Amino acid sequence: MNLVAIIEWAEGYNRRGLYSPIGVTFHWVMAAMMIVQLGYGWYLGTLPVGGDKHVGYQTHAELGLTIMAFGSLRFLWRSQISGPENIEPDSFAGRASRLIQAWFYFGFIALPISGWVMWSTLPGNLPLSVAGFIPFPNLPFDQLSEQLQHSLMEGAATAHFWIVWITVLAIPGHAGAAVLHYLVKRDQVLQSMLDLNGQQVPGVVGSAPSTGRES
Ligand code: HEM
Ligand code: HEM
Repeated sequence: MNLVAIIEWAEGYNRRGLYSPIGVTFHWVMAAMMIVQLGYGWYLGTLPVGGDKHVGYQTHAELGLTIMAFGSLRFLWRSQISGPENIEPDSFAGRASRLIQAWFYFGFIALPISGWVMWSTLPGNLPLSVAGFIPFPNLPFDQLSEQLQHSLMEGAATAHFWIVWITVLAIPGHAGAAVLHYLVKRDQVLQSMLDLNGQQVPGVVGSAPSTGRES
């Protein structure tokens, strides 16, 4: 199967109002990683300073770098296959959902980068890797003055903190909106991220998008 055939296959799902199995897998694997990572980051913050905390942040950093790697692949995928159009793009709901989704993509990259800056100013030289096996370097901050390192740490910690908080508020808004679509509007917005088989409507090139009521 070449790339064009894969894109055509995925667009078949989009025309039926669904995300493709690749889009669905990206979504739920990354949603789970983000929720675990947010909880784990907070848990680490409650530990007393010391070896366990430092090793814990190493795991946190490696999971975060994995999120960044997956997020970049997902962004590439998404730039080729935009997903189904189940919400009127110019409506308030359409704009709000696009804004929140764009924020999540920003977070997949900006959280790891700000975390990496923080990590690189910390004393100790525990190695980092992506997903436990692709080595990832520290930034060469040990060559900078202590004052500059301190400012970098402060700036990155503030950025990390605020991006964490906005993301934590955005997630229930995003998930809640999907559930409201299912319960109140009774459209297929939520279904589009859950249904791996698709409706019994063929995804033919040029066919009208599904309304979700065909089957
Ligand atoms: C998507 C990925 C990430 C998420 C969701 C995330 C989440 C969090 C959370 C919830 C906290 C505790 C609250 C806070 O201090 O802001 C935290 C702290 C921290 N994270 Fe991350 N993080 C991510 C990626 C990373 C990466 C890749 C690194 C390092 C390479 C990292 C390093 C740190 C450090 C050093 C702290 C302690 C901050 C402090 O004590 O001020 N994080 N993170
Ligand atoms: C936990 C409950 C969640 C539910 C019920 C849910 C549901 C959905 C649904 C139904 C869509 C499709 C919306 C549309 O097409 O307009 C979607 C898209 C999306 N969701 Fe979630 N979601 C959840 C959690 C998350 C989390 C934790 C993240 C990341 C922090 C996330 C990131 C995204 C992104 C980036 C998209 C855009 C789709 C794409 O890039 O292909 N979701 N979600």
